[in-house]
Amino acid sequence: MSLTAHQRVLSGMRPTGKLHLGHYHGVIRNWIRLQHEYECFLFVADWHALTTEYENPQVIQDSVWDMVIDWLACGINPGEATLFIQSRVPEHAELHLLLSMITPIGWLERVPSYKDQQDKLKDKDLSTYGFLGYPLLQTADILIYRAGLVPVGEDQVAHIEMSREVARRFNHLYGREPDFEEKAEAAARKMGKKNSRLYFELRRRFQEQGDEEALETARALLESQQNISLGDRERLVGYLEGGGRMILPEPQPLLTEAAKMPGLDGQKMSKSYGNTIGLRESEEEVTRKIRTMPTDPARVRRNDPGDPEKCPVWQLHQVYSDEETRRWVREGCTSAGIGCLDCKKPVIDAVLAEQAPIRERAEEYLKDPDSVRSIIQEGCERARDVACETMEEVRRAMGLIYW
Ligand code: TRP
Ligand code: SF4
Repeated sequence: MSLTAHQRVLSGMRPTGKLHLGHYHGVIRNWIRLQHEYECFLFVADWHALTTEYENPQVIQDSVWDMVIDWLACGINPGEATLFIQSRVPEHAELHLLLSMITPIGWLERVPSYKDQQDKLKDKDLSTYGFLGYPLLQTADILIYRAGLVPVGEDQVAHIEMSREVARRFNHLYGREPDFEEKAEAAARKMGKKNSRLYFELRRRFQEQGDEEALETARALLESQQNISLGDRERLVGYLEGGGRMILPEPQPLLTEAAKMPGLDGQKMSKSYGNTIGLRESEEEVTRKIRTMPTDPARVRRNDPGDPEKCPVWQLHQVYSDEETRRWVREGCTSAGIGCLDCKKPVIDAVLAEQAPIRERAEEYLKDPDSVRSIIQEGCERARDVACETMEEVRRAMGLIYW
């Protein structure tokens, strides 16, 4: 049995517009695989969308149900995964607030996406409190379900790393990890024989006799250690003072192995590049988009040979075509044996074939919005039960229970 089989998976997606094939190949197909292996919690991150769309929240409202329908149409199974909407589980906001008390501002300012996105989205004023807190809200999303694994893209790894740091700090302040003793003792040994013996002696004096002076001396000893990590220092401080138990486990990122889905221009498919094929776009529109895709510029006339490596259509063949078709393309392109429209035909067919069942299932859900609402209603309730349980412990750990 896999060690991780019992772990909970959590992931979210921001509702900021219609989904496209990049979402399908990059994220949703991965979720579909994971839902069979793990207990999955998947949610619509509407509050996260608001951090950048606060001036035009209509976009969010317009996208929420479409996004849920897209997930279901693609094959996310509400019988296996719990689907919900972030703002319908307000405990996320409470945890975000409580975590904000222990999160140094520098941690947030140092997350690379903070400056990157501000530079990239120049038309938006992102010098807000909410946007700075984006990764901390994400941290609350993850920690509130005690999720072990978080499937994300490369760009989100720094956020998960911050979640780990916040969890560690929380546990240091209000609890401790399961193998805490062993780790603390190993950390003590890293200080060398003499210092570690002194540390244990001071700890014993403090814990057995309440000797405050010994505590102070031990703290100063830890402060003066140059060659132990911050994590080890936090363990040693916690161990010294006699902490509690682990409350919020540290999550791990689960990097999506899927290759980047190429867009109509050969760059990664992304709304901001305007090179997308919508998940449920009409057959006519999809056909038109692919037929008008740029190709190797060397192929001006039908008789000019080309080089697939210089053509974005070739990248779509990598995703959609088998080896035989690809050989046909390579030969036909370099010898001018086929025209570009001939070459695009199998790609068009493959995309339409991929979309057909998705579009069909989406139609069913569109005809029956009540069923979609009840799926989400149930998911929200299930998510909320888990979130409330965690919050009980968090409040207790922080001393916020008064009766
Ligand atoms: N920040 C994520 C994105 O832009 C969305 C998100 C919000 C998320 N909360 C999350 C992803 C928690 C994973 C876990 O894609
Ligand atoms: Fe691109 Fe195909 Fe035309 Fe070659 S034949 S340039 S691979 S579309």
